[in-house]
Amino acid sequence: MDVRPTREEDLPRIVRISRAVYRLEATWREEELRSHLEIFPRGQLVAVDPSGRVVGMAASLVPPLDDFSPDADWWTLTGKGHFTTHDPERGTVLYGAGVLVDPEVQGEGVGTALYRARERLLEELGLSRIVAGARISGYARHAEQLTAHEYVERVVRKELSDPTLSFQLAQGFQVLRVVAQYLPEDRESLGYAAVVEWRP
Ligand SMILES: CC(C)(COP(=O)(O)OP(=O)(O)OC[C@H]1O[C@@H](n2cnc3c(N)ncnc32)[C@H](O)[C@@H]1OP(=O)(O)O)[C@@H](O)C(=O)NCCC(=O)NCCS
Repeated sequence: MDVRPTREEDLPRIVRISRAVYRLEATWREEELRSHLEIFPRGQLVAVDPSGRVVGMAASLVPPLDDFSPDADWWTLTGKGHFTTHDPERGTVLYGAGVLVDPEVQGEGVGTALYRARERLLEELGLSRIVAGARISGYARHAEQLTAHEYVERVVRKELSDPTLSFQLAQGFQVLRVVAQYLPEDRESLGYAAVVEWRP
């Protein structure tokens, strides 16, 4: 699995994967992806299979995190999805705004390859840590029995497995806190996210 910087011609394919992953919720739009390439090209990565087909992407930016509330939502942190909050002069943290893998090849190591590339980027840019808001996409099915905090604790203790948070934990991330209304349109997570951190 090769991971390389995203190119303009990859964008329609990324939008298609995003639609397949999220259906109508939280789908990346081409003009947002183009904005990422203009603002922070090095932070945009795609995974390509041996035939050269794009099968996943990871989008990152460097916002000045100290300027934001610890409970800031995805839309605020990412400049409404356009990465206008990117400020490498002041930011010290690589912020993971999104990672997605073609549903046809999920569970085959593509997400892990994208994260290894993100870790290399962190080192190349001399940044201190990676922070991301991990969706808890299995939570809606447990919401009648558990609060979001309880659910995250169970996933961390490996008593429950979550399709997205368990992936982040498998990459070596630690949970810092749980934020409500992080991505309100994410119905599977009921809008909640676990803010997670990775340090080299
Ligand atoms: C989350 C996602 C990026 C993971 O990518 P992937 O290529 O499927 O993940 P990998 O194959 O590299 O899996 C790595 C490890 O993560 C864990 N993992 C992955 N998917 C999992 C799942 N559905 N349930 C539990 N653990 C999972 C496993 O520990 C796995 O290791 P293993 O293969 O040795 O068991 C991908 O499933 C995806 O695009 N999901 C939808 C979009 C999304 O929610 N993105 C995350 C935003 S926070």
